[in-house]
Amino acid sequence: MSNSELKHMQTLLPEWVETSRQQALHGKVASYIPELAKSPKDALGIHIVGAEGQVASAGDCGISFTMQSISKVFTLILALMDNGEEAVFAKVGMEPTGDSFNSMLKLELVQPGIPFNPLINAGAIAISSLIAGSSREEKSARVLDFFRNLSGNRALDYDNDVYLSEAKTANLNRSMAYFLKDKQVLQGEVEEVLDVYFRHCSISVTCADLARMALVMAHNGTDPVTGAELIPRRYVQIAKTFMITCGMYNASGEFAIQVGLPAKSGVSGGILAIVPGRYGIGVVGPSLHRKGNSIAGVHLLETLSRTFDLSLF
Ligand code: DON
Repeated sequence: MSNSELKHMQTLLPEWVETSRQQALHGKVASYIPELAKSPKDALGIHIVGAEGQVASAGDCGISFTMQSISKVFTLILALMDNGEEAVFAKVGMEPTGDSFNSMLKLELVQPGIPFNPLINAGAIAISSLIAGSSREEKSARVLDFFRNLSGNRALDYDNDVYLSEAKTANLNRSMAYFLKDKQVLQGEVEEVLDVYFRHCSISVTCADLARMALVMAHNGTDPVTGAELIPRRYVQIAKTFMITCGMYNASGEFAIQVGLPAKSGVSGGILAIVPGRYGIGVVGPSLHRKGNSIAGVHLLETLSRTFDLSLF
């Protein structure tokens, strides 16, 4: 069934990509991390992988881009694997904010100052402080190794230019991290925690890498291609729920209605989406809607979900 469905998708995707690509005109490439301003605005690519490793893909799938906020899903999972649920949810909440991803507006509204959820910047920085390891190097190496296992791509690595560009300019993230330190939410040394965070945001991937990581989640933590059990089912369940409620930030409600799949976006224009029990999807389109999600990428996912009735709802 899914094999023939993927073949059907393959016949439709090239034309859909060209239609959705037009949407890029109405968005903007992120520039608050200066290196991201160099991204190709009109690029659009999609890669879909099924349980036996069969693929449908179209557009600019060959380009590499940094994971940015997409990485937050997997650092959350690693922090859960390292610490368990109770310890993690003592430091971050479970609720969407309705504010932008880098907002600090609500940080003072909850006591004792914990971020609303692990997918906004403040929450993901708190999560970075929970990654096990005796130094920043060891923590970052554990994150990279975990991402390599999930993607099945041992060559996954950092984009050093994007890493340095963010580390130099992240005044807002820095101020949130110091706030969290003051509230004793953040463990350890602030600059060390931020370094772990900037590094995981700068891991460079292709749509195929994202699709493979999504496929593992679509199969509750087991890589259906290799049979390897990589994530406990419960932690996939938690991560998928956050993806539905907060994965597309303050556009998550609209995305749930239009696409209806657990997904996570990044300011590089990447989107990772999951069709539970079936497919992993990776998309890239660097031109962003004002809420920070790929404008052409969301358009393409809407067409795909509507045509193949993929919504969970
Ligand atoms: O911390 C930041 O601002 C970036 N490294 C990640 C933000 C991001 O990807 C938000 N996504 N839509």
